[in-house]
Amino acid sequence: MGIHSTINLPESYTDLDQTLNSADLILSDAVANATTLFHTPVVSSINGKEVVSRVMVLREFNLAKKMMRFHTDYRAAKIKHFTENNNVSVIGYDPDLKIQIKLQGKIRVHYDDEVTESAWKESNGRSKKCYSIKDGSTKEILEPSEYDIKDFEVEDGYENFAVLIFNFDSLEFLYLKSSGHRRAIHRWGNDLKSTWLVP
Ligand SMILES: Cc1cc2nc3c(=O)[nH]c(=O)nc-3n(C[C@H](O)[C@H](O)[C@H](O)COP(=O)(O)O)c2cc1C
Repeated sequence: MGIHSTINLPESYTDLDQTLNSADLILSDAVANATTLFHTPVVSSINGKEVVSRVMVLREFNLAKKMMRFHTDYRAAKIKHFTENNNVSVIGYDPDLKIQIKLQGKIRVHYDDEVTESAWKESNGRSKKCYSIKDGSTKEILEPSEYDIKDFEVEDGYENFAVLIFNFDSLEFLYLKSSGHRRAIHRWGNDLKSTWLVP
């Protein structure tokens, strides 16, 4: 399957387990594989009555824990959204795979705790750099070039670094195929319930 040769996905889906298994393979692979669009899913938050969406890099995926990890700047607008309303939707689509995966759940903001410390330690210098930008995101500015990253101490960025832990309680899988689309939803309550949906 071209650049996705590291993961082996079925050509067709006949049982529900296959859809969850493929979602697991795709999202686990996407953490390190920047060539799949699942590496950068869209994360939506709620701001009052508005939905706000943005692309974020997927840093960790763990199906057993029903968890995704994202990194962000503590000064970003989304921090306020997630703090006031922790309901979140995460969605991705990769045209090479012809698969869309949509997750619903709740997000928790971590700042200056064990979770942020360990995520910061495993981040590389290039990623750390983003957090040293003065004033943080969303401030209205006249001249963007004044905000280009120049000389600074990367480790200072830790004070602006936040980790978002997303715990999903549903995962929807949609596979587009001309012979027949396949759509399945997996919902976790006390236990997992899975069903096909009309695509
Ligand atoms: C390819 C790509 C990857 C991005 N990754 C992240 C990320 O991992 N974390 C993040 O906070 N913003 C990331 N962004 C920027 C966000 O999309 C967004 O513009 C920024 O976080 C401000 O969002 P907010 O105002 O809703 O808080 C990324 C943008 C692109 C295009």
